[in-house]
Amino acid sequence: MGAGARRDASKDRELKQLRALMDMAALVNSTLNIHAIQRRSVDAAAKLLNSETASLILIDQETGELYFEVALKKGARLKQVRLRKGEGIAGWVVEHGIPQIIHDIRSDRRFFARADQVSGFRTKNMVCVPVKTREKILGVLEAVNKRKGTFSPEDMELLVAFSHHVALAIDNALLYEDNIRHLVMRLREEKQHARERERILKDLHDGIGGITTNISLLADLAQDASSLEEVRKTLSTISELSREGLSEIRCFMNSIDESRVDWHTLMADIRHYGSTCIEPHGIRFRVRETIRDVREPPVSILYLNLFRIYKEALANVLKHAKAKTVTVALDVRPERLLLVVKDDGVGLGKPGGSGRGLRNMKARAWELGGTLTVSSRSGTQVRLELSLPLRLGAEQ
Ligand SMILES: Nc1ncnc2c1ncn2[C@@H]1O[C@H](COP(=O)(O)OP(=O)(O)O)[C@@H](O)[C@H]1O
Ligand SMILES: [Mg+2]
Repeated sequence: MGAGARRDASKDRELKQLRALMDMAALVNSTLNIHAIQRRSVDAAAKLLNSETASLILIDQETGELYFEVALKKGARLKQVRLRKGEGIAGWVVEHGIPQIIHDIRSDRRFFARADQVSGFRTKNMVCVPVKTREKILGVLEAVNKRKGTFSPEDMELLVAFSHHVALAIDNALLYEDNIRHLVMRLREEKQHARERERILKDLHDGIGGITTNISLLADLAQDASSLEEVRKTLSTISELSREGLSEIRCFMNSIDESRVDWHTLMADIRHYGSTCIEPHGIRFRVRETIRDVREPPVSILYLNLFRIYKEALANVLKHAKAKTVTVALDVRPERLLLVVKDDGVGLGKPGGSGRGLRNMKARAWELGGTLTVSSRSGTQVRLELSLPLRLGAEQ
């Protein structure tokens, strides 16, 4: 063969290799599954360098250990082998970032024999190159046992070129996995929010919807009323209802304003509502509050229902108790919430006389996955207990 023909043959080989490299790079980058990338990279590296086998060894970003899957001889079973940081030729290449050709593996003291023991494979020679992105090293790629002759510097060059594509594929796959994890978390939160919104809407419909319906019925009645006295009475009920409606709306607005809903604001609202509702009647009003290490802020549905229970409890004190003092205690801890409204009034009277107010309070407590008890021993005590984080009644 003349010099020209030799040059042509070597050009030909180069072109063929380049084509193969491009094909392999495309194949490796056509999936986001890290195991598929691993498998395809290994196959491609072995093919590109005409070697018996190949390995892709990755760094466990948490421990710094290296791990790879070796094919066991019989069947296509895989087993994961782990190397400590810096161990083996792979560990050396990771540490130094320099590609290596090793012609006689047995005489290289860096050689880590356990992979051969596990796989039953006998490593003779290899090319080992780092797999790295611009920011960090992800692992190494090894081609093992050249089928004919020994590995050449061109082989190493080819593997280095290929390793860039492998790095890109792995980096993408890891990013993708990360994104998926985030997305799953976001979806879970979204679902929770949607459920909460649904409850609030239903609540609005029952609460404010009921009040406005009542007002319009009463207004119709008032139009047909025969006496001024009757009209006055109806008007007074209407104004009471509309006040109630306004208070509901305020409470609702507060509960959905995410910027203001935290435990301390809830406490402040409890205190403010209590003193403006109770003190004008000449009744003493006291609050005891504890908030301990609570990280999760109160969700809207909690704020809303807690407040309604509280309002009804205070309304009952004004209506029935003839009390001198009302004491409210709110105690919030990471695992539970306790609200107690206690008065020193006449007590519940005959048991079983439970009207709509108490029934509603209990239903709301149940909605929040908690319990409400009313007891009467020198006055009346309403006690609401919820476990946190909230587990809504219908989900249990
Ligand atoms: N703090 C209280 N002090 C005395 N009696 C109460 C108190 N709370 C509730 N009660 C009694 O329990 C009954 C049921 O209350 P509730 O279900 O709220 O209905 P309502 O307030 O419409 O009467 C009241 O009628 C009253 O007799
Ligand atoms: Mg009542």
